[in-house]
Amino acid sequence: MEKFRIRGGRPLAGEVRVSGAKNAALPCLAATLLTSEPVELHALPRVRDIVTMERVLAALGESCERANGTTRVVAGRGEAHHAPYELVRTMRASVLVLGPLLARRRRARVALPGGCAIGARPVDFHLEALARLGAELRVESGDVVAEAPRGLRGAEIEFPRITVTGTENLLMAAALARGRTVLRNCALEPEVADLAEMLAGMGARIAGAGSPTIEVEGVEALDGTAHTVIPDRIEAGTYVIAAVLAGAGVTVTGCRPAHLRALLDVLGEAGVACDVAADAITVPARTAPPRAVAVATAEYPGFATDLQAQLLALATRSEGTSEITEAIFENRFQHVLELKRMGASIEVLGRTARVHGPTPLDGTTVMASDLRASATLVLAGLVARGETVVDRIYHLDRGYEAMEVKLNALGAEIERFNPGPYR
Ligand code: EPU
Repeated sequence: MEKFRIRGGRPLAGEVRVSGAKNAALPCLAATLLTSEPVELHALPRVRDIVTMERVLAALGESCERANGTTRVVAGRGEAHHAPYELVRTMRASVLVLGPLLARRRRARVALPGGCAIGARPVDFHLEALARLGAELRVESGDVVAEAPRGLRGAEIEFPRITVTGTENLLMAAALARGRTVLRNCALEPEVADLAEMLAGMGARIAGAGSPTIEVEGVEALDGTAHTVIPDRIEAGTYVIAAVLAGAGVTVTGCRPAHLRALLDVLGEAGVACDVAADAITVPARTAPPRAVAVATAEYPGFATDLQAQLLALATRSEGTSEITEAIFENRFQHVLELKRMGASIEVLGRTARVHGPTPLDGTTVMASDLRASATLVLAGLVARGETVVDRIYHLDRGYEAMEVKLNALGAEIERFNPGPYR
């Protein structure tokens, strides 16, 4: 299993460029199932989850070819409709194929994702909403089997709670449903609006994406399109936080600062003023430690749960007691134990972590448990005394494109290595 060896204490300086957003690329890839024509997707990040989604599409008869930063997806002739467990278990977002499969092929069999490291994460809202569009659903040998022999029909749906991939699944299903669908209590995440933009390019009739109520007028068929996915706001935020922690002047380029408003506000409260340009954020060299902050994660435009772990690493180096509350997922503090092993002073009370800072961090061997937790351990390693080994970085590779290459270009010293099974 690959690991990172990080030599701490190296200041970061220079420019780092953000890749395309994993969480926008995944639904955009799934949306290719809605058409028989070729689709070109630009700026898909080279990360593991994208490869997994391409495999899911291959199992469904599509082919994906990448050349010069563009992925061309071509539909197959078959009517395959089964996303198998071997693929789904490695990536919950595979469930995104359910809506488009049902809408165009009128049936789908998708393995249920099961639990994952950050909580139970059920897909009941997806299933209930698809049933409202007329799908018949049952669970068979661990798979959701869904059928709509006469096609889906528009309906009014209110999500009981905001769900990002749930909104995306329904948007794709409704695009080819007969009549009008109104989706209420939708996710406002920029990735939803990006998917809607791609669907509009395919000929879908969608109004209100990016707002709580989305209206979709179903069409008979969708065309091919070319679409560029938005920059990854979570990757950008991770490098902004890295720059606050270990920076001697870092500019994060190719991002959309408007998507990072909540993080920039929190950093402002911590006393870190960033320079914001149209597509770049500059974190100036730090003179004093940041101040402690009180933050609760929330749906967009609130503070992203996907940046909670990284903020926690920063809190260990901030002056005072920070209170960081995780309000989206019930079990997203696994990084805390590893940070404590590095010397952080953190107590978890229910859904809130109280972080007493600043504390020095010591390098040691730590274990990554999920994607964002892994990023946090790398950030901690950047400022730890001595050497930090981050084990199980396959979690990191699911969502960060060449993280060590990007950080090393800023001056970090991170080596990817694999000591083999007997060392
Ligand atoms: N929920 C349910 N039932 C459902 C759907 C959601 O109870 O049917 C609950 C979840 O358990 C959670 C909350 O509702 O407590 C919100 O979950 P949501 O459905 O919004 O999450 P998701 O769509 O599965 C996406 C991102 C996650 C990100 C969350 C929250 C993708 C592919 N994944 O997941 O990204 O944390 O939204 O913003 O877009 C990551 O990139 O590291 C990652 C985990």
